[in-house]
Amino acid sequence: MKFFIRTFGCQMNVADSFWISSALVSKGFEVTYQEKDADIILVNTCSVRKKPEEKLYSFLGRIYPYFKKNPELIVGVGGCVAQQLGEKIWKKFPFVRLIFGTDGVPYVPQTITKLISTPSLKISLLDFKDFYPERDIVIEEELLNNHPVAYVNIMQGCNNFCAYCIVPYTRGRQKSRHSEKVLEECKRLVDAGVKEIMLLGQNVNSYGKDKYGDGVSFEDLLVKVSKIEGLKRIRFTTSHPKDISDKLIELFGKLDNLCPAIHLPLQAGSNRILKLMGRKYLKEDYLRIIDKLRKVREDIVITTDLIVGFPGEREEDFRETLDMVKRVEFDSSFSFKYSDRPGTRAEKMEPKVPEEVKSKRLKELQNIQDELTLKSMNKLHNQTVEVLVEGRSSKQLKKGVVSFRGREPGGRVVNFLVNKEMVPSVFIGSIVNIKITEVKKHSLFGEVRK
Ligand code: SAH
Ligand code: SF4
Ligand code: F3S
Repeated sequence: MKFFIRTFGCQMNVADSFWISSALVSKGFEVTYQEKDADIILVNTCSVRKKPEEKLYSFLGRIYPYFKKNPELIVGVGGCVAQQLGEKIWKKFPFVRLIFGTDGVPYVPQTITKLISTPSLKISLLDFKDFYPERDIVIEEELLNNHPVAYVNIMQGCNNFCAYCIVPYTRGRQKSRHSEKVLEECKRLVDAGVKEIMLLGQNVNSYGKDKYGDGVSFEDLLVKVSKIEGLKRIRFTTSHPKDISDKLIELFGKLDNLCPAIHLPLQAGSNRILKLMGRKYLKEDYLRIIDKLRKVREDIVITTDLIVGFPGEREEDFRETLDMVKRVEFDSSFSFKYSDRPGTRAEKMEPKVPEEVKSKRLKELQNIQDELTLKSMNKLHNQTVEVLVEGRSSKQLKKGVVSFRGREPGGRVVNFLVNKEMVPSVFIGSIVNIKITEVKKHSLFGEVRK
């Protein structure tokens, strides 16, 4: 039988979907990248803002005709919207047979087998577990072949309850994964050819600091992972400014394979708004962290998340966000209009910022960021950078030339062309020296250097 998985949301969802794919392949199922060919369609959802949540509804609307044509089609909905809505999904979409929450992921493959053998069955897996939802490590070389970069979960959930955020409700409380398990998975991935590992958690800096921790801190874990022979690159996400330690910052100057890049969500530049958000740091604390990071690694790429139009945000608060963006000079940022999420504290906060004001602020912020992003990328012009080749680009091909895509250590995508006869030395998973010859609005182009 063939399965298709559509994934929305963050890297944690991508990691969950990849695990489900691997586990299904190891049980003899076949992966397909075409919905129309699938006997099983799964969608892994995100509810961090209203927009990603709506993607679920349009997706289910789109696949409904396949179910009409083939009533044996198994449709499953998982992830954060599933956790949030639970069995209400069945009321609106009765053709869905499987609903799985974020702690339900390890049980999905065996549940699918059950659904196949009993066509009248519908199953929901929605309980939060009182343990890290550990799952078998499955390495499917067929799936890994085109993935030199692997995501490895080190924890589940979040305890921070930032006022706007639904994640603690959809992913539950923080549960650290056993460090030995993390290391075992990383080692097995590297043995199978993975070159880069990204350690994942909603707040990686607090890894180990919950009742599930085994005494290994995030800094210790990072050092242990970095020693795995053959692992060329390590990244991690997401860091929280309130929990980042000097010890972690110093590791950027000590571990050769730790990439010079950090995603450090600021969210807002006004201390008043940061307080309302419950972020537990001041903008001055944030600036101090940035100074330290740049002292340890001058070239570190710093990215962030920003929210505009949080309830009560005044024009002067927003100006402070712009001011922070200019002061820090983020290499890039993700910025969002505040979106009310059911059950969060901010949902009940007033006054709400009108939609048109949010749009105007977002645009102004993004224009400033676009300039900064270009400025940052221009620093790479004419530089030679090490690129880990991650895939072929979808960019148009010239005859006799193959187009590749990869990332430089800072995490930015680099596109380059290679003559067909050179292709044996450039392949997915190889690291090549690329001279950046062109900087476009959101992308870098270069050529191979010996
Ligand atoms: N754990 C990470 C990120 C969580 S969600 C952290 O603590 O930063 C990813 C991003 O979505 C957040 O950083 C935030 O900028 C944004 N986000 C979360 N809830 C939101 C909401 N209700 N409205 C708009 N943006 C939101
Ligand atoms: Fe959400 Fe805050 Fe937790 Fe990040 S730290 S997942 S923004 S509650
Ligand atoms: Fe979205 Fe859930 Fe990730 S809400 S951002 S998929 S943790």
